[in-house]
Amino acid sequence: MDFAIEFQHVTKTFPGVVALDDVSFAVRRGEVHALVGENGAGKSTLLNILHGGYSEYAGTVKLNGTPVQFRNPHDAIHAGVSKVHQEISLVPNLTVAQNIFLGYEPRMGPLVDFHKMNRDAENILKRLRSPLRPDGLMVGVSAGEMQMISVAKALFHDAQVISLDEPTSSLSSAETDALMSIVRELKEHGITIFYVSHRLDEVFDLSDRVTILRDGKLVGSYETSEISRAELIRKMVGRDVSTFATRKQPRRVQPEVVLEVEDLSSPGLFEDIRFSLHKGEILGFAGLVGAKRTDVMRAVFGADPVVSGKVTVHGKVARITSPMDALERGIGLVPENRKTEGFVRYLTNEANISLTCLRRFQRLGFVDRSLRRSNADTYIQRLNVNPPRSDFPTENMSGGNQQKVVVAKWLSTQADILILDEPTKGIDVGAKAEMYALLEDLVAAGKSIILVSSELPELIGLCDRAVVMKEGRIVAEVSADEMSEELLLNYAMEGVAS
Ligand SMILES: Nc1ncnc2c1ncn2[C@@H]1O[C@H](COP(=O)(O)OP(=O)(O)OP(=O)(O)O)[C@@H](O)[C@H]1O
Ligand SMILES: [Mg+2]
Repeated sequence: MDFAIEFQHVTKTFPGVVALDDVSFAVRRGEVHALVGENGAGKSTLLNILHGGYSEYAGTVKLNGTPVQFRNPHDAIHAGVSKVHQEISLVPNLTVAQNIFLGYEPRMGPLVDFHKMNRDAENILKRLRSPLRPDGLMVGVSAGEMQMISVAKALFHDAQVISLDEPTSSLSSAETDALMSIVRELKEHGITIFYVSHRLDEVFDLSDRVTILRDGKLVGSYETSEISRAELIRKMVGRDVSTFATRKQPRRVQPEVVLEVEDLSSPGLFEDIRFSLHKGEILGFAGLVGAKRTDVMRAVFGADPVVSGKVTVHGKVARITSPMDALERGIGLVPENRKTEGFVRYLTNEANISLTCLRRFQRLGFVDRSLRRSNADTYIQRLNVNPPRSDFPTENMSGGNQQKVVVAKWLSTQADILILDEPTKGIDVGAKAEMYALLEDLVAAGKSIILVSSELPELIGLCDRAVVMKEGRIVAEVSADEMSEELLLNYAMEGVAS
């Protein structure tokens, strides 16, 4: 069998955690090979080992039958093994071409040959059918376009193997489709694709084979056409999980309005935003990526200045000019961008979870550590954070588990109005089901929730009502009975029902 990559008995430990435990499997040359598993299963760690991110591990990695041990990502790139990252790192104030060539600029004597660089970049972008201009600046480049540039980078290095770590988690559906067709095309050119995703639709659409990891151990590799969705999930999670978002408890919307937003405007971003949120309600915000839903939420929360408008909380007009104001009025926001806004690097889970409500854990001016710890432990259990340790640095957790810590942080503020911006982005199927159950518990306890989500089934299954935004305006309000994917999409794209 012709293998591009072979992992043999790969084991990787971090202090107190076995991230990979004797993992052996192989990726065939020219196939699209999906890698799936719950948050923390070891997917990113395995990719890091392949790409020279970690030099210390046990076991063997072979490339085209030959053992390799890359000491850093450069070595891997040189050998034709490139990676598109889970969190993309491009330099904002360089041009598109400069980002593609970063560190490998073509030279003319001591100078960068900009002419050649732009020409080569143009060829690669053309090959990807990207409308981006090589000399364009990165400002305003969307998440999807950044992903393209990362792929372009890999192509420029003549990659034989390209791995993608959750490449679509921040892409719009059109951008996702574009990326999917690029993956297919790369495959046609004989490039081996190694693909990590929590989106099972993608896994089934794209991959030839799929490998499942669970708790750092190999479950197995399967022909994608020979495994069912339910079976795949069972092998990943170890139990049956309904992937459908549905309400399992009775709905509890009460007449009382807890939050009322009127005429909220911020020129250039959004205009004339008005909506109300009832006690016990889950209010959805639908829209395409770029509809400015996040900007509206940040404004309500006081994170961005509002130019005009009126916000009423529990019947009182509220001037919210900072997140502190919002917190004091019982409003919490779980931001979309957990890496930069969600948690503090170097702090433990316990410290991060308690960050916004330190005052509650103070006794006579001192932080009561045991109170603080038991608060953190409660939410770590409730959200199934893995590893379930309050003393673990949040930064060292897997992407999905970091997300859970950020949610825990806001839950423990005991805010009664919670805004969640794409809370299930990057979390596994089991954790999604847990998140849905948690949202129901929260409204059952009399809290009110705003759910911004790009996953229509999630909105349709969970919300009591949804507003749809398009280009900075609210274009529709839809009740639970009326909601359908078609209707929400029509509003989101066209601004009208059909
Ligand atoms: N630098 C580190 N220090 C300590 N532990 C780590 C470090 N990096 C990863 N881990 C641990 O290794 C395990 C595997 O993490 P990894 O990031 O590979 O998971 P993943 O499968 O990519 O998850 P996700 O779907 O959430 O991205 C986790 O338990 C994580 O906490
Ligand atoms: Mg990961």
